[in-house]
Amino acid sequence: MNSTVTPNPSYPKHVAIIMDGNGRWAKEKGKIRTFGHKAGVKAVRESVSYAVKHHISALTLFAFSSENWNRPAQEVGVLMELFKLVLGSEVKKLHKNNVKLRVIGDTSRFDEKLIQKVEAAQTLTASNTGLTLNIAANYGGKWDIVNSAKMLMEQVQSGQLSIDDINEDTFGQHTCAADLAPVDLLIRTGGEQRISNFLLWQVAYAELYFTDSYWPDFNQTLFQTAVDDFCDRQRRFGKTGEQVSQ
Ligand code: IPE
Ligand code: IPE
Ligand code: MG
Repeated sequence: MNSTVTPNPSYPKHVAIIMDGNGRWAKEKGKIRTFGHKAGVKAVRESVSYAVKHHISALTLFAFSSENWNRPAQEVGVLMELFKLVLGSEVKKLHKNNVKLRVIGDTSRFDEKLIQKVEAAQTLTASNTGLTLNIAANYGGKWDIVNSAKMLMEQVQSGQLSIDDINEDTFGQHTCAADLAPVDLLIRTGGEQRISNFLLWQVAYAELYFTDSYWPDFNQTLFQTAVDDFCDRQRRFGKTGEQVSQ
């Protein structure tokens, strides 16, 4: 990975990316959709390199949604194999770069081999202190929220928690990536302007950035363009522009 640059305090601390457009990228080249998924791995490397180089604290990548099971079985199969392959081939380099890798989502539906690979990668990188890289796999924003509600209800039922203790803080603590800064910047490639059940709770005040570039074409220059755009925005969090610029 490339050498690091001085941290910029105006940069986002947590960036989330909806990596979309692999299928259309491949189709435009006269190839099958899965060719696009394979090509997308390079863009993942580029994004991680950018985040490491610029001291972004957390990068959350949407790799497979809870709805993506509805795709043709062959495509789902290729995506699962690719996931295994990439975990195996990239984890050492990530570890060397002090990256803490985590998989967020309902991994229980994955096959045993994939679950083992995920666990091994998480264990190896658990004490790293650099970038936290979350891979959202079989992730759904609604699932995340329902899961948090269930955990809180269990605590209420067992008497550990009272209903009055349920608030935005306690609720948020049980959602994925609760220990990280909220998402500052959400990027979606591929031209669609929707959230597709990605992080819902966590993007409450994120800046949204959409680009027509397909995911396999995403690179450090395009990441920088998104970050520059973010830096030009005024985040008001409910206040007036005058209050914020004081
Ligand atoms: C995103 O690209 C990758 C996954 C959802 C796994 P797509 O496969 O959705 O590509 P398009 O949107 O069909 O072009
Ligand atoms: C969202 O992309 C999921 C991922 C990028 C992993 P989709 O391509 O599945 O989204 P929709 O269905 O077009 O909204
Ligand atoms: Mg898509």
